[in-house]
Amino acid sequence: MREQGEEQKKLDVLSNEVFVKALVSSGRTCVLVSEENEAAIFVDAPLRGKYCVCFDPLDGSSNIDCGVSIGTIFGIYMIKDKDNATLEDVLQPGTNMIAAGYCMYGSSCTLVLSTGNGVNGFTLDPSLGEFILTHPNIKIPNKGKIYSVNEGNARNWDAPTAKYVERCKFPQDGSSPKSLRYIGSMVADVHRTLLYGGIFLYPADKKSPNGKLRVLYEVFPMSFLMEQAGGQSFTGKQRALEIVPYEIHQRSPIFLGSYDDVEEIKSLYASESSTA
Ligand code: AHM
Ligand code: MG
Repeated sequence: MREQGEEQKKLDVLSNEVFVKALVSSGRTCVLVSEENEAAIFVDAPLRGKYCVCFDPLDGSSNIDCGVSIGTIFGIYMIKDKDNATLEDVLQPGTNMIAAGYCMYGSSCTLVLSTGNGVNGFTLDPSLGEFILTHPNIKIPNKGKIYSVNEGNARNWDAPTAKYVERCKFPQDGSSPKSLRYIGSMVADVHRTLLYGGIFLYPADKKSPNGKLRVLYEVFPMSFLMEQAGGQSFTGKQRALEIVPYEIHQRSPIFLGSYDDVEEIKSLYASESSTA
């Protein structure tokens, strides 16, 4: 759900309708959590299936009007008891997800998916109307040359985030600085991070102590994919997938990407907490 000042676009509403209708009528779903709906949707008994889907139907929608890539993000849990579905079925740690992925609407339409056994990327062939496996078994490089963050928030960052970004620009080991790339569309920023390596950050700051991105349909699916591709995902306090959510639209800070790059920010947070 959006807070004051977060604009909802017509396409946000439309895409949500399309996804909700498709998921309900598939007969495969039971509980749906969408960024665009304040409450979870419980599918009526005749159409009820065994999957719970948490999704952001159109992420990065501030980029719509200028034609920059946007996407759909989703994470899937298995229902415990179809006849007694509750919110507890989706208020579960990301480690319990059985699948996650995103679809990116860019210069091509790309689907990246994991069912817990690695990550595969598919590209839509519009002439066939099919997604073709174009990126089998995606593995993120152990270390990358790119960092991705909204630096406009820098004055409100905490010390470890500020120090980490400073190190990206002025590496202590004499290596070349990392390049900054930030689209402001999580799907596109994470997709580039997954393929090229590096780190994506949406940290907490003084104005948003819980960060901006939502746990169930942004942080968890992307963290699931990163781990499945050999990378890591960290909140500043813990492994992101181990968050136990208490609220469906809960937010969390997030640092995800190449294993070694995330390791570095983890050690900065660890040394801060040991000196606190
Ligand atoms: P949205 O779900 O309202 O589109 O917001 C989420 C988007 C992400 O795609 C992106 O990573 C982030 O917001 C960018 O935020 P900011 O403009 O504060 O950098
Ligand atoms: Mg979003």
